[in-house]
Amino acid sequence: MPGVVIVGAGQAGFQAAASLRQQGYGESITLIGAEPHLPYQRPPLSKEFVAGKQEERHVFLRPESFYAANRIDLLTGETVTGIERAGRHVRLASGGSIPYKTLILAVGARIRELPFPGVSYLRTLDDSVAIKARLEEVQDVTVVGGGFIGLEIASVARGLGKSVKVFEAQPRLMPRVVSPVISDFYRELHASHGVEVVLGAEVGPRSADLVIAGIGVLPNVELAREAGLAVDNGIVVDEYLRTGDENIYAIGDCARRGVRIESVQNAVDQGVCVSSAIAGKPEPYTQVPWFWTDQFDVKLQMAGLSSGYDRTVTRGNPESRKFSVFYFRDGRFIAVDSINRPGDHLAGRKLLANRVPLAPDQAADESVELKKLG
Ligand code: APR
Repeated sequence: MPGVVIVGAGQAGFQAAASLRQQGYGESITLIGAEPHLPYQRPPLSKEFVAGKQEERHVFLRPESFYAANRIDLLTGETVTGIERAGRHVRLASGGSIPYKTLILAVGARIRELPFPGVSYLRTLDDSVAIKARLEEVQDVTVVGGGFIGLEIASVARGLGKSVKVFEAQPRLMPRVVSPVISDFYRELHASHGVEVVLGAEVGPRSADLVIAGIGVLPNVELAREAGLAVDNGIVVDEYLRTGDENIYAIGDCARRGVRIESVQNAVDQGVCVSSAIAGKPEPYTQVPWFWTDQFDVKLQMAGLSSGYDRTVTRGNPESRKFSVFYFRDGRFIAVDSINRPGDHLAGRKLLANRVPLAPDQAADESVELKKLG
């Protein structure tokens, strides 16, 4: 009996498989991943793992025994080359096909590349292993892209005593997600640790011992497009994460419901959401997005989506390296970025999830206990 086939064994695909069994789904589950590894976590790849502070076995989400114990057929090193929607099966690169009753596309995103050779990228476990080895041999590191990946690797390389230069095309750091106050803080932070940050600079081929680019990712939409599903900066899904074909869902970095979100939280929560729908308990996807990045000794936690904000207020003092920026649109609280203030992050997430209104004055006033409002 065909059951669920999941294409993509990253965080989202893994979560969907695990949650389906937790929800009591009894049919077959096949999890197909192109990489030769067990499903693993990505966040440590640009943090503890690449810094040599975490062993490889700790990046895997579960040991191999988990898959057999949960009757999850894990096919690693296998690529799906096509979807036959009419006959409900997927074609495999190794030949043959697998029938499905329900298909989940958890195919993720791939790195954007620079138009010249000699550049390292960081997306997969193999990429991280290779960069870790190169960092042992080199002294000068050039980083292209001042987003999460670029700045995390810059802080790791600097921590290993390398001489590090970061080139960011935009006039400020992490421009895709944070406000100028946070960007400025990070520029100072990197400078204070001796990282040279060059803003407003797109770079051509460089001479450095090691050039690492983190210039964003592109959603893997080709399989869906070739199968005739709607694609628009991501595979288009409804509030139940279903595509236009009622037997096909899409989750994680590759999926777009209004916005496309690249985060572990989104991958995990969409994996849970899709498994509920397939197990017959559909609930619309309404989770508040959240993200984090670790650079030097600073943790930035972001909750909500700040794009389109028209006002910000700061709680705490940036000089103390503990503060939060609250974002508002039309007077409505939409997001909060917290630096070394996990309490604000958690309180903000709760307010957003419960749709509790927060006024800018309340956000700025440290005598107002935010967690009591939610
Ligand atoms: N030269 C310099 N900078 C560039 C260039 C270029 N040619 N092209 C793009 N950039 C900059 C962008 O302006 C942006 O600030 O690179 C940065 C990329 O940042 P992100 O979009 O955050 O992407 P990245 O850091 O690569 O992270 C990729 O991994 O951690 C996750 O959430 C993260 O999903 C994201 C993914």
